[in-house]
Amino acid sequence: MNINDFLKMKQEAKPIKMITCYDYWSAKILAKTNVDCVLIGDSSAMVMHGFDSTVSADTSMIETHIKAVKKGINNKFIIGDMPFLSYRKTLPLAMESVEKLMKVGAHSIKLEGVFGNEDLIKHIIASGVPVMGHLGFTPQSINMFGNSIVQGKGEQASQQLIESAKILEDLGCFAIVLECISSSLAKTITDILSIPTIGIGAGSGTSGQVLVLQDLLGADPDFNPKFLKKYLNIHGLIKDAVNQYCSDVDSGIFPDVAHSYGVKQNASN
Ligand code: KIV
Repeated sequence: MNINDFLKMKQEAKPIKMITCYDYWSAKILAKTNVDCVLIGDSSAMVMHGFDSTVSADTSMIETHIKAVKKGINNKFIIGDMPFLSYRKTLPLAMESVEKLMKVGAHSIKLEGVFGNEDLIKHIIASGVPVMGHLGFTPQSINMFGNSIVQGKGEQASQQLIESAKILEDLGCFAIVLECISSSLAKTITDILSIPTIGIGAGSGTSGQVLVLQDLLGADPDFNPKFLKKYLNIHGLIKDAVNQYCSDVDSGIFPDVAHSYGVKQNASN
């Protein structure tokens, strides 16, 4: 997978499957799946480190997760997320963050929003780094949104999102994440653009989908946004497995002869 394949998949109406990945063991599993690309996102601050929002992510956090993921995956396109404010100070500082993410193995970076980022996006792309945009609910701006998760509501807000998407395409982004907007607006944007859109909480009219791995596996029983489909109850499965282990240790069932060294199971061993 490379940036041309993103475009090709949209043109051929093949859905792009993107998923987040933050560590070595899940990277080894994702390497064997049909996902097309892997996002080392700033949601790692929440699902891996327990912070309340993505505001707490920093470049070294994303760098560390990319390094771990790269050890387990070498057959997927990797997108590294530019964390909160890492691209809003100065161009040299932003480029230092871009460099760090690319040098540890990202194939592209993602950043949120458009206004005020135009020159930076142009510069990053002109420097040979593909950029994925991110519009709609942009979690790094959580403190600006208040309680309103779904974005682009009403004529003016939806027009602004459409305009923003067009600007990102014109700047040279190879794809755009659309988060928590109505299905119809996401489809309108997808139809207007040549580049693909990748939705999360944006319905089925986008060119692809992205979910946080821990969310789709059902790691947190308390996290149940409308857009999330849980494909597993990993919380329950892990809890049951660990409790089974505890009870086996308590009752002396584990370790048994089969799992012990230097103990003959029967005469033939
Ligand atoms: O960090 C993340 O998980 C993301 C996705 C929501 C697209 O940016």
